[in-house]
Amino acid sequence: MVTKVVFPAAGLGTRFLPATKATPKEMLPVVDRPLIQYAVEEALASGMTDIVMVTGRGKRAIEDHFDISAELESSLHQAGKDELYQEVSRIARMAKIAYVRQKQALGLGHAVLCAQPWLGNEFFAVSLADELMVSERPVMQQLQDVHAQTGCSVIALSEVPVDEVHRYGIVQANKEGDLLRLTDMVEKPDPEDAPSNLAMIGRYIFSPRLLDILAQQQPSVGNEIQLTDAIALLAQEEPVYGLIIQGQRFDTGNPLGFLIANVALGLTHPKYGDDFRHALQDLL
Ligand code: UTP
Repeated sequence: MVTKVVFPAAGLGTRFLPATKATPKEMLPVVDRPLIQYAVEEALASGMTDIVMVTGRGKRAIEDHFDISAELESSLHQAGKDELYQEVSRIARMAKIAYVRQKQALGLGHAVLCAQPWLGNEFFAVSLADELMVSERPVMQQLQDVHAQTGCSVIALSEVPVDEVHRYGIVQANKEGDLLRLTDMVEKPDPEDAPSNLAMIGRYIFSPRLLDILAQQQPSVGNEIQLTDAIALLAQEEPVYGLIIQGQRFDTGNPLGFLIANVALGLTHPKYGDDFRHALQDLL
């Protein structure tokens, strides 16, 4: 069972400007809670207990969100707003979180490397909060299952339309029993160079060897230290499996995917779903 999980959240969120000029992308809300909270709850529901959050300049709202706000809690309590009080207090106590700063956004691989002092020599997970998962069995739990079966690194995959492969890390894989064994991967390829249409979607379990590889890594695409390059090297040294996840995923790192996620989760929301459906019908 993997217990440690890294949340890289130090990126600049340029696809979401100007919304992300002063607000972390990870704090943008889908319906009534920020993206990062969905990802943290998914990890906790998958048995992960120790969180390392990699943040940077302008990201303090993330720390505040998971912190105790005694003043807010007491005023909600005194006002008899019990449901809100419970929720606010639950968020502040839900997880053990360590924070580390990535002083410059040098790439996702570099962000993961910043968490190294907290990780030790054991398998660890990485979760990108700008990918939102909705599934019966939490996606991180689906990865835990494959890790328990193989003892190896495992990466969440999803099929994407061929004309969208340039937005993702795309893998090359061989079938091995029920699993996919990854042989190579390439970051944001042109459709004609893409080895498949299977994209990595921001949930990973890694062998600690990945950190040694990242420490030697040179910048590549976009002049960033790319996680994808390190995974490709890891896959040459030891098995790395891919799992096509069961469930829905929303690419909430860009405005269109974010809008779609809000509509999908709004329609199924227990409190707002019915009214939202009627409002949408009126708009259409
Ligand atoms: P993205 O590329 O999706 O995020 O990285 P970004 O860089 O913030 O967004 P754009 O591309 O400029 O619009 C995936 C995840 O990795 C983190 C981001 O915060 C996001 O959660 N990241 C990326 C870092 O923590 N550090 C980096 O240097 C780059």
